[in-house]
Amino acid sequence: MKILAIDTSCDETSVAICEDGRLLSNIYFSQIDLHKKWGGVVPIIARRNHEERIDQVIEKALKLAQQKIENIDYFAVTYGPGLAVALEVGIRKVKELAKTNGKKLIAVNHMAGHTYANFALNKNGQSYGIPNKQIQNIFPLITLLISGGHTELVYMKSHLNFEIIGKTLDDSVGEAFDKIARMLSWGYPGGPIIEEFAKLGDEKRFDLPVSMVQSGDLNFSYSGLKTAVMRLIAKIGHEGMSNFDKAQSNHTDVDDLPQKDDMRNDKYLPTLSHKPTFVLSKVDSIDLAASFQRVACEQLLIKVRDALRIYPVQTVILGGGVVNNLYIRKKLRALLREEGVDLFYPRNKKLLTDNAGMIASAAYYMALNNQFADIEALDRSPNLKLS
Ligand code: KG4
Ligand code: ZN
Repeated sequence: MKILAIDTSCDETSVAICEDGRLLSNIYFSQIDLHKKWGGVVPIIARRNHEERIDQVIEKALKLAQQKIENIDYFAVTYGPGLAVALEVGIRKVKELAKTNGKKLIAVNHMAGHTYANFALNKNGQSYGIPNKQIQNIFPLITLLISGGHTELVYMKSHLNFEIIGKTLDDSVGEAFDKIARMLSWGYPGGPIIEEFAKLGDEKRFDLPVSMVQSGDLNFSYSGLKTAVMRLIAKIGHEGMSNFDKAQSNHTDVDDLPQKDDMRNDKYLPTLSHKPTFVLSKVDSIDLAASFQRVACEQLLIKVRDALRIYPVQTVILGGGVVNNLYIRKKLRALLREEGVDLFYPRNKKLLTDNAGMIASAAYYMALNNQFADIEALDRSPNLKLS
């Protein structure tokens, strides 16, 4: 069974081809450099670039997979959650492909995609995530999804059976990384930058609060930590204009200026203000980054441990961009070793960040389960939930 999948949910234009769960190609074009100067993803720029690149990326994915479009059995697409105007580009394209080729369409939830990155196989049939010998018999399990838009604990009894058992009440952990990086004037996306600088800092220096420890449930919250960091910066910093804000005030490319309407509902609302901000010394910045990362991770560890008390599974899997963080992975590995529970995550950088390979993998299991979409009725669903 051959599937062509598209993901245009945010700032990556991605197309993948898979055959019976094996990824033959997984191509993406990242727009990060185009959004960087705004300090976050600007929807109108995202849409324009998805539109410009999509045909090229499809062509490349087919070529690398050595496949022809007429031999594809099903077309799959992310229909949410994500940026509405970006999702639309992929959906429109997939409808066109499914109709012209007379094939069925599979509508995939982006977070199901992050989960199913763990089930993706390489072209020789080797699994990227859950080891081959365990893949047939892996349920029940718990998935920890940590991305730019989500922080969720999901209990899965069987394939495509998602029960959200915990979720963030405000910011996601990835969003917290992005916002703290902005406060420190380190640009976007914040996760990788904070991780790099945190390596140099003293993680015990600042005593920041771990939220939700006594909440009695499996939910998360990152806005308290964000506020605590903001207050700390105001306390120990000195007033001045950061390099990042200076760069923005020098920017004159009017054509690229985001329109006010496009920035509404944007989770990474870029600030165009040139107001003076608090600036920290280098040592204070790296110590703050390290302390923030320790505390952000601590909340994840506590909730995973609590989840295992209520859902005593043998396996935890990870998904989402924050899984790139080696510090968080190391801490989770140590916790789960202590608990005697297996931990798996996609051992391929491409499958951790937004990509269509994970969407193709989820679509494969959906096709086996006869889960097809109505081509005419399919619409983007920016706030789509897993369950
Ligand atoms: O899954 P993803 O690529 O996109 C969404 O579906 O949101 O995740 C992007 C998020 C961003 O918030 C980014 O800062 C974060 O993942 N991220 C990281 C790291 N690499 C990416 N967070 C912490 N440490 C990293 N190394
Ligand atoms: Zn994602």
